[in-house]
Amino acid sequence: MLEKIESLFIDFKEQIEKVDKQADVLNLKSSFIGKKGALSEILKSLKDATPEQRKAIGPKSNEVKQEIEKKVQAKLQEIELKEVNEKLSQSKIDFSLTDSVLDKGLNVGGVHPVHQMQRDVEDIFQSMGFEVLDGPHIEDDWHNFGALNIPETHPARDMQDTFWFEDKKHLLRTHTSTIQVRGMETRKPPFKFVGPGKVFRCERTDATHEMCFHQLEGMMVGKDITVGNLIYFMKTLLKEIFKKDMEVRLRPGFFPFVEPGFELDIRWKKPKKGESEHSGWLELLPCGMVHPNVLKAGGIDPEQYNGFAFGLGLDRLVMVKNAIEDIRHLHSGDLRFNKQFSSY
Ligand code: DAH
Repeated sequence: MLEKIESLFIDFKEQIEKVDKQADVLNLKSSFIGKKGALSEILKSLKDATPEQRKAIGPKSNEVKQEIEKKVQAKLQEIELKEVNEKLSQSKIDFSLTDSVLDKGLNVGGVHPVHQMQRDVEDIFQSMGFEVLDGPHIEDDWHNFGALNIPETHPARDMQDTFWFEDKKHLLRTHTSTIQVRGMETRKPPFKFVGPGKVFRCERTDATHEMCFHQLEGMMVGKDITVGNLIYFMKTLLKEIFKKDMEVRLRPGFFPFVEPGFELDIRWKKPKKGESEHSGWLELLPCGMVHPNVLKAGGIDPEQYNGFAFGLGLDRLVMVKNAIEDIRHLHSGDLRFNKQFSSY
C-alpha cells in the first residue's frame, strides 16, 4: 500500500504539470484526494493491513494529501497570476509610467489649499484636546439664528444675507456657529470642540466676498473659563499656523451670541504700493465669551458654566498667509493657481 500511495503521488505530480486551467486543477485534486478519489480507493484496503502497516500508512497518506493540497494551491496561484498578467498586457494602462514621465507634464491631484488649512487647524486643536464636529449645510431657523440669540425681529439677521428655502423654514447655513448649537445639544460640560465646513451667503461676489466659503467654529465650555483662556488658545493656533509668535490685540466687536464680543487682530506687515513694507493690524478672528442665552438654548445652566467661542474664516486665513489678493482665485479651479501650493 505504501508503494501505491507513493506512485499515486508521482502520478499526481506529473499530471498537475500538464494542466493550466483552474477547473482542471480542481478536478485533478478531487480525482486524487476527493472523497471518491484514488487515495480513498487505496485506503479502502486498509482494513486488510497489519497493525504495523497501518501505523506507517496513516501518516504517509496524510503527508501525501498535504503535499497534494500544497501543490494545488501553488498551481491555482500561478494560473491566477498568469491571467492577471494577460489582462494587464491587453489593457491600455502603461504600468511602466514613472515619476519622471509624470514630471514631464501629466497632472496629479492634490489637496486644495483651503482644505489643507482646514486639516492643519483641525490637527492643532485636536492636539489640544478639542473634538472635531460636523454639521448639516441645510439648517433650520433655530440652529442658525434662534438658539444663537438672534430672534426673528433682530436686526442682526440682516448682517448675514441668507439663502432661504421656499418653505421659509430652512436655509443654507450662513455660519458654522450652527455647530455650536448642535455640539451643546449633544454633550454635557465640560467640553471643547471645533466644527469646520462650508457656509453660504446670498452676496455679490467680489475680491473679498464669495457666496460659498469656509469657516471653522470653536467652542469651549466649562467652569470659570476666562478671556485669558480664549487668548491662550487663539495665540497657540496662530503660532502653529504662522510658525512664529504672533502679536494680537482684542477690540470690542458685536455678535449676538457672545458677550463680551471681540475682534481679534494680528500685527501684520503687508507690502503696499510705493512702500516697501506697511505695518499694521489685521482683523482675523471674531470671538467672545458665550452669551448666557446661547448656553441656555443649548441646555446648559449659565449659572454653573461659561465658555468662549470663535469663528475662523479658513479662506481668509489662506489668503492672509499666502498674500492672495482675491478670494475668487481659491474657487476658480485654475490649475496654474492651485499648483503653487506644495501639495500639488
Ligand atoms: N458666526 C460669525 C460670522 O460668521 C463669526 C463668529 C463671531 C463666530 C464670533 C463666533 C464668535 O463663534 O464668537 O460672522
